[in-house]
Amino acid sequence: MSDQFSQDITGRKRSPGETFYTREVAVQYEKLRKNDRYWSWENDILDQCLRAFGDLRDIADCPVGTGRFMDIYSSHNLRVVGIDISTDMLEEAGNKINASGMEGRVELVEADVSNLAPREPVAEALVCFRLLHLISDNNLDDVISGLAMIPSRHIVLQQFSVKDYNIRRALRRVFHALFSEISLARKIKYICRTLRDMIVGVLGLRSVSVFSRHKKNTFCDVTYSHSLARVLNAFARRGFLMKYIFDFKDNEHLMGESGCYLSVIMVMEKTK
Ligand SMILES: C[S@@+](CC[C@H](N)C(=O)[O-])C[C@H]1O[C@@H](n2cnc3c(N)ncnc32)[C@H](O)[C@@H]1O
Repeated sequence: MSDQFSQDITGRKRSPGETFYTREVAVQYEKLRKNDRYWSWENDILDQCLRAFGDLRDIADCPVGTGRFMDIYSSHNLRVVGIDISTDMLEEAGNKINASGMEGRVELVEADVSNLAPREPVAEALVCFRLLHLISDNNLDDVISGLAMIPSRHIVLQQFSVKDYNIRRALRRVFHALFSEISLARKIKYICRTLRDMIVGVLGLRSVSVFSRHKKNTFCDVTYSHSLARVLNAFARRGFLMKYIFDFKDNEHLMGESGCYLSVIMVMEKTK
């Protein structure tokens, strides 16, 4: 299938998250994440979505990373095309194929998704988890454009720190935080952040990308929050409309976020 991909190198400047996944990061990637509740929540939602799609035969996973979903794909009897920009992450994914009984059913392709130009859709569905927060504002449209070319029918898209200024949804999350078992100090911090982000949103200010230094260099230091409207519009322009949105409401998660920032999984369907 890799002969379907023609690479049109545009020479754009890559975001830090596009070059971050080296050998050192790849070997530790799953070990550092697989006990998180958010990680298992993602697995459960993906499994549910694949069940709901019912009659799928093949799937594209971009970015496939270390191939974390291979067992799930195996249980749904799917053929898989795994696409990723990092040789080292793909090597880890390669090691998973036999362990999950997927030999002969997986093709791994090393490619920058923003440069993909397949002549026809690569699979019926695309799974895209934990990518868009690594992509800068300037690169977002190119990346979404590449992603939307991959599937013929469905997209399951996970996104961290989505900016969403819908007042009803923000209020629902503030109430959830108020009545949850977090400390008063955290509740106050959460409400202040929500108000601050609402004002930033209403005034149309651009908020900055998130920079944080990690001791062991195992998490990307530079990540981005994109607005839900921008992401949905970019997919809609390419024929994909959102059907469902799953929102992870969890105390630990809320402690670090505000009501205007969501971590979500969205299901989109091709309309034309
Ligand atoms: C946080 S990991 C997510 C991997 C997997 N989807 C998961 O949920 O664990 C991000 C992955 O995106 C890949 N990536 C970053 N930029 C990319 C691009 N432009 N094209 C394809 N893959 C990219 C990285 O190499 C890395 O493997």
